[in-house]
Amino acid sequence: MTLRTLHRSSAILIALFAFVHIANHLAGMAGVATHIAFMDAARLVYRNLVVEIVLLMCVAFQVGSGLTLALRGWRLRRGFVPWLQALSGAYLSFFLLVHVGAILSGRVLLNLDTNFYFAAAGFHVPPYPYFFVPYYFFAVVALFAHLGCAAYWQVQHRPGLTRVLVIAIPTAVAAVVALLIVLLLAGKLQPVEVPAKYKATYGAFK
Ligand code: HEM
Repeated sequence: MTLRTLHRSSAILIALFAFVHIANHLAGMAGVATHIAFMDAARLVYRNLVVEIVLLMCVAFQVGSGLTLALRGWRLRRGFVPWLQALSGAYLSFFLLVHVGAILSGRVLLNLDTNFYFAAAGFHVPPYPYFFVPYYFFAVVALFAHLGCAAYWQVQHRPGLTRVLVIAIPTAVAAVVALLIVLLLAGKLQPVEVPAKYKATYGAFK
């Protein structure tokens, strides 16, 4: 088995989780209570000890193997798709390290329920929105662009339009989904009142 094959296999589990996870954030459009109810149900699966350990090990492996693959042959890389694949993968590695680190710290060190409000807090304490808006937006776009690049290699012998669409469609859909999630967390689609204990993690006390 090559590193690339293992990277693909581990990606399947992470992508499965990420689809449910992103659906969870979109469910927030029906209200914060719906987002939290969805998360409570999904946690029954991904917070199962075995599932969570496997998921977090896959995340760690994905970051390590992804960075290795991206750096390998960095100077030899030619063309739009190889660069999109490497750069979206590099961003996902950065995002996953920071994101999962923040979630686990919130849970273990700060003893917080890392629910909707944990994600939303950064959007409600200036100047942190300048970080969190692009941070989450590009995470969702990079994920779908990266998966689109993987699909591209499966259809590389098909007509040009098919090759363009396997990347363009998921990336465009992701941009819309990411925008909705960011607007939702920022309280622009409906009022969001973030409890003080979540804002306090950013040094805001009201
Ligand atoms: C749309 C932006 C995103 C937001 C607002 C967000 C927010 C969150 C929150 C609040 C949690 C804690 C869940 C819980 O306590 O049950 C979480 C966990 C996690 N997220 Fe995200 N997330 C986003 C995108 C992503 C993406 C794109 C990925 C993967 C590529 C991802 C991977 C993870 C992982 C692996 C965990 C840890 C799951 C666990 O073991 O509890 N997230 N995220």
